[in-house]
Amino acid sequence: MLERYGHGGDLLSASELYGIHEDHLLDFSSNMNPLGPPQVVADILSQYMQHITKYPDPAIRQLRSTIASKHLVDLEEVIVGNGAAELIDLVVRYFQPKTAAIVAPSFIEYEQALQKNGCKITYIESEAVNGFTPNEQQVDKLIQQQSIELYMLGHPNNPTGQLLSEQMVTNLLRSGAIVVLDEAFLDFHQHEDELSWISKVSKYRNLFVIRSMTKFYSIPGIRLGYMIGAVNQLQHMKQMQYPWSVNSLAQLIGHAVLQDQSYASESKSWLVEEANWMYEQLACLHVKPFRTVTNYILVDLAYGYEITASELQQLMGKQGILIRDASTFKGLQSSYIRLAIKSRQQNIHCISVLTNILSTHRKDVGDEL
Ligand SMILES: Cc1ncc(COP(=O)(O)O)c(C=O)c1O
Repeated sequence: MLERYGHGGDLLSASELYGIHEDHLLDFSSNMNPLGPPQVVADILSQYMQHITKYPDPAIRQLRSTIASKHLVDLEEVIVGNGAAELIDLVVRYFQPKTAAIVAPSFIEYEQALQKNGCKITYIESEAVNGFTPNEQQVDKLIQQQSIELYMLGHPNNPTGQLLSEQMVTNLLRSGAIVVLDEAFLDFHQHEDELSWISKVSKYRNLFVIRSMTKFYSIPGIRLGYMIGAVNQLQHMKQMQYPWSVNSLAQLIGHAVLQDQSYASESKSWLVEEANWMYEQLACLHVKPFRTVTNYILVDLAYGYEITASELQQLMGKQGILIRDASTFKGLQSSYIRLAIKSRQQNIHCISVLTNILSTHRKDVGDEL
């Protein structure tokens, strides 16, 4: 199984499993911007090589200031981490909630961070028939019972690609519980600023918004993410971080890429076109794709085919294409896969291999197809 360590994008495991060199694998199992990294990343890596002989700025001042300007928040409302993953872990370690709620399915690190801290988790249902929107009645009930100390929710959610409703988030914030919104993939959206909850951080002191910089700028190996929230809480959280958790090259890269406006707008326009194209192609294949606002798409194979996600992953892997077996997400059946949305040429190749494999696994349902 490709998700041996819980995530997609594990090229070493894939290479061992399929006997193909990492450089010859096409990775649809993790969701990076196919346009990236921006040119400035290579420039920094070559020009600032000598920076590794010095310690990074422990207070990450320049990058925090750039992030603060981008989101029109105060410098002290920004904390930077070694990827969004560090901040998911940190926020849970800091609040130590006894009870928390997350959506099923959602990013595995929410559950793992909470479990590590001995927290009791309630799973908010989200079903295919409702396009994977979280069950609002269940959420209302949780709010009324006041039994949940912390909600951790993806906006948009991974793997479903769905945004949270404004009403639901507002209700949660008014309940007084800690609300952690993971906006790791929101920068791909054309209306990122309007949809983000960052501007509400000064109004709701119980709101914490986490951002990743690794997906949009295609720098997962660099590790970079940030969180915006109430100053007094962030000050304590900072003290719980490991010293120098964000290295000097990551700090320089973060500062530089955030200023590359043309890269940002090109990426956002690319996604609108390519997400539609991918959806249409998949729909023609008689699988069930779910509409997405971001650069990955959830697909149910059971609609027209008798093949599990893990079987398909194996068959595609042997042909050098890695897909995410989404049945490892809580709440999804064995027929769910998640595909990254990549460049047109790569997407065409993926769809063509998928079509060939699926053609030998059709459900015997006659006219239904
Ligand atoms: C929803 C979500 N949040 C956060 C992360 C972690 O991102 P980072 O690479 O910044 O640690 C991921 C990584 O896949 C993710 O899918």
